[in-house]
Amino acid sequence: FISSSEPTKVDASNISSIKAFPIPSSYHSLAEPDDIVDVTEELAASIPVIDFSLLTSDDLKIHTKAVHEIAKACSEWGFFMLTNHGVPESLMQELMKKTHEFYNLPEEEKEEFGDDGDPLSPIRHGTSFHPPAESFNYWRDYLKLLTSPQFSFPHKPPGYREVAFEYNKKINGVARKLLQGISESLGLESDSIIDSSDSDSGLHIMGVNFYPPCPQPHLALGLPPHSDFGFLTFLIQNGIGGLQVKHEDKWLNVNPLPNCLVVNIGDQLEAVSNGRYGSVLHRAILNNKDTRISLVVVNGPARDKEIGPAPELLEKEKPLFKSIKYCDYLLVQQKSQLSDGRTLDQIRY
Ligand code: SIN
Ligand code: FE2
Repeated sequence: FISSSEPTKVDASNISSIKAFPIPSSYHSLAEPDDIVDVTEELAASIPVIDFSLLTSDDLKIHTKAVHEIAKACSEWGFFMLTNHGVPESLMQELMKKTHEFYNLPEEEKEEFGDDGDPLSPIRHGTSFHPPAESFNYWRDYLKLLTSPQFSFPHKPPGYREVAFEYNKKINGVARKLLQGISESLGLESDSIIDSSDSDSGLHIMGVNFYPPCPQPHLALGLPPHSDFGFLTFLIQNGIGGLQVKHEDKWLNVNPLPNCLVVNIGDQLEAVSNGRYGSVLHRAILNNKDTRISLVVVNGPARDKEIGPAPELLEKEKPLFKSIKYCDYLLVQQKSQLSDGRTLDQIRY
């Protein structure tokens, strides 16, 4: 269907169906192709690494040191790699394998999972970033799933759901401990971001991103710059790079250490910390050789929980953000994708 020399917006139900060169102009989201190479390798090499086993150590000295390192990573970067997290490598590999199988299913079999545009729908399959309202198309297909407190997941291919369930459970355990460490690093009680009554009702969203090779990777993006909406995002990928984070006004390539979890701070944590820990802008770039898969778990508060700056932090300072129910924030985020602003700006005083 890409026949004219200046194709218009593509009505594709999935990106895999577009292999043509040149790519449709609706995908030309990079105004400045040079933008993509504005990368400082030296800085990228200094992305913080947090050893999770030190955080969970019974030795108070070791634990305290890990908490300090978390404080530094969160305040200076909003982003780090987590090693020794205890999620089995074989589980992560199996999850990637099953994800490949899912995307290899015939198109008709994936159609039943269409995206109705509601951020709280349990299973959504679609293409691009926010199709109804965006001015560009993005070179990506996605699957978005509510995985906690109720676990929603496609029943095919066989075994995918079971592997994802195990993975989600493990990530929830890591997330809980990490949020305790982050609370401490802010000088709060360890249960203050997620108290024990909340930890089982937190709303978690899994996002599976599928980026086929793009014939003109310097013209298009897999995902536009955005910050994530939850407390923390945990990312793994299939060994193919493409994630970039914005740091000190530069886009840095993220080359994760083997088997680490890439963790970034989301908007809810910026709000809770009253701006001490900023949510990090990131995007996905493309390549013309390999299919890239990334899988994220966005860990957040319970859907009806009202989130705002922690009261303890407001004893000596003014709140930067208004408190808002998480489910309402997700709707604000959905709407603000229509403009380019950061969603948090919509609830800033
Ligand atoms: C995301 O932001 O959801 C994924 C980014 C990536 O694919 O690396
Ligand atoms: Fe993201």
